[in-house]
Amino acid sequence: MSSTQFKYFMPARVECGNGISNRTGEMVKELGVTKILIVTDKGVRGANLLEGIERSIHEVDLAYEIYDEVEPNPSVEIINRGSIYFYQNHCDAVLAVGGGSSIDTAKGIAILATNPGNILDYEGVGKIKNPPIPIISIPTTAGTGSETTNSTVITNKQTSFKLGVLSSHLFSTLAILDPALTLGLPQGITASTGMDALTHAIESYTSKDASPVSKGFAMQAIKMIGENLIKTYFVGTDIESREQMLVASMMAGVAFSQSRLGNVHAISHTFGGVFNIPHGFANAALLPFVMTFNLPACAEKYKEIAIALGKDVSGLTNMEAGKKAIETVIEMNQSMNIPLNIKDLGVSLDLLPKLVEDSMRSGNVFVNPRLTKASDIESIIKRAYYGDLGIF
Ligand SMILES: [Fe+2]
Repeated sequence: MSSTQFKYFMPARVECGNGISNRTGEMVKELGVTKILIVTDKGVRGANLLEGIERSIHEVDLAYEIYDEVEPNPSVEIINRGSIYFYQNHCDAVLAVGGGSSIDTAKGIAILATNPGNILDYEGVGKIKNPPIPIISIPTTAGTGSETTNSTVITNKQTSFKLGVLSSHLFSTLAILDPALTLGLPQGITASTGMDALTHAIESYTSKDASPVSKGFAMQAIKMIGENLIKTYFVGTDIESREQMLVASMMAGVAFSQSRLGNVHAISHTFGGVFNIPHGFANAALLPFVMTFNLPACAEKYKEIAIALGKDVSGLTNMEAGKKAIETVIEMNQSMNIPLNIKDLGVSLDLLPKLVEDSMRSGNVFVNPRLTKASDIESIIKRAYYGDLGIF
């Protein structure tokens, strides 16, 4: 038997609890920072989600400024503007309050606070030389898991490419999980971000770089999402299932920070760059098609996923049981009104060669459980466009 070689590194302190964001000030002050830049968007601000957080910062006499210009699929320009704002206001830490876009923007600002040049200089793995300033993340969706990942995803509008910056320096210093901040999320965002988290967990669990540790986090996340996502979609005010989703999303983030992802994210990132489609919807619609492509390479793992999602697989072969996992993902999409093809999401095949080329540039293709060529990506995109699963 061969030994299992792996490493595990996840240095973020995580604090979870209903209402815990009202203690943000004291937790941030413990980090020794003097002035913090809150990085958020106008939606979060307009929904009064900053109220308790700001109050807690006032209570400990900590200085702060707010940068609320974050947009979905954050661009190089949004990060540069935030970075200038950060310098002008003499801040020494960032506090992201929002979805993955706010957390990823805050990470970008944190990199540029201690490293020279442009954020584009840091594309790829391990390019950041100087540790960034402290990053505090308060997710208001469940979620991207960005609060416990080692990466930030940024859109280069000039090339319509979504690039990844990966570094062990990019974990949050502190992540505060407060389900109360997610109670008001509309159904569409609950669905898209929840399916993003499920995609993280499934891709991480089946990644070629998965380890016993990352698989433990991924499997627990799959179970919790299976038990809670549909409930949060229909009963958004249920604090317990909201909390379970927030924890599951964070755990999926821990998992994929160790294992990377797979073809779903390799392809969906190209949609985000070109068509500006919400990341979670792109993943949700692609997931059954990528799983169908991967099934022969990881049927047993898909069987385990089917069981985790509550399916009875007794008496079935691994392939049959694995298909149950794919069917469950389709059922979840259907019950949350997510399109079953990418055409309805606004993807066009006009740019197919660029989509294929950009997908193959993603490091996620190399850890996908089934060996993938450019022609495979092309066929997955076409099947997903026409809603044709093939083997079913
Ligand atoms: Fe994602």
